[in-house]
Amino acid sequence: MSDKIEEILSEVEEFAINTKEEVESFRLKFLSKKGKLTAIFSELKNIAPEERKAFGQKVNELKLKAEVKWKNALNELSDSSDDKSSDLDLTLPGEPIKLGSAHPVTIIRNQIVDIFNRIGYNVAEGPEIEDDWHNFTALNFPPEHPARDMQDTFFMENLDGTALRTHTSSVQVRVMQQGQPPIRVISPGRVYRNEAISARAHCLFHQVEGLYIDKGVSFADLKQTLLYFAREMFGENSQIRLRPSYFPFTEPSAEMDVSCNICGGEGCNICKQTGWLEIMGCGMVDPDVLKNCGIDAEIYSGFAFGMGIERIAMLKYGIKDLRLFFENDVRFLEQFHNPD
Ligand code: PHE
Repeated sequence: MSDKIEEILSEVEEFAINTKEEVESFRLKFLSKKGKLTAIFSELKNIAPEERKAFGQKVNELKLKAEVKWKNALNELSDSSDDKSSDLDLTLPGEPIKLGSAHPVTIIRNQIVDIFNRIGYNVAEGPEIEDDWHNFTALNFPPEHPARDMQDTFFMENLDGTALRTHTSSVQVRVMQQGQPPIRVISPGRVYRNEAISARAHCLFHQVEGLYIDKGVSFADLKQTLLYFAREMFGENSQIRLRPSYFPFTEPSAEMDVSCNICGGEGCNICKQTGWLEIMGCGMVDPDVLKNCGIDAEIYSGFAFGMGIERIAMLKYGIKDLRLFFENDVRFLEQFHNPD
């Protein structure tokens, strides 16, 4: 009988386990219910009682050896095949990280700011919740003046006259109050108007307004500055034209059009066959506004202008619906990239 044990022992020792399948065949061959060790245990009853103890001990040792071999093999092989980390090749190049893209409103805002920075304008920012004086009164909108209806305002409940700013001209008022000319600022920012939301209007949008005040500033300076802006923004062949208009805080006031960059002025459906695109309002700052803000209108004069960022973005990128800017649809947003 002990020969039999020796034989199985050497079989156990010689059994090469290199794969998961072999781990299982080892178990089946030796340790399972139909395995060789179970079979040899059942021999116990045929052994003479005085030898039983020694025999039992030997079989137990054999069983232990077989179990240890099986468990080690199981651990080793399942470690290397189930644990994916051991397949990691740390020398491979990393996965590329997908970079986000700036929002088109941000891209155009930065371009506008950059264009004016180059000719000496600084950025000024101010609060989006504004009092009546900065948003209206200082800018020559007297109480009950019908011009206040031009800008449908969101007023704050129970806070007399406090409103969401309807334009960033309010920031220019703050700048004039704080310092004396020469003043050269642009004020980009979000503005709010109580309008029905459609493809062409929204209750919030973004503006960049500009202000230039110094001695001897004339309408010719305004025109040249706007021509410079139009050519930087829409291409060097762009033309501008000014049409008389009305704003309470500028006199004279104008609307500026730029030649259509889509059809080159020939006429297309973006410019409604006119060859011109309306871009911004502008004018010479009304001397009363200068006085309201503590600037001597006898010595200084200036111009101001203001444009909607979404409108410029729509014209530059050929976007037909304003609502797209606010829906945060990644398929729309990821199409825009900062020009280098
Ligand atoms: N504040 C005006 C608007 O929001 C734009 C403007 C600014 C017009 C400066 C003239 C001068 O419509």
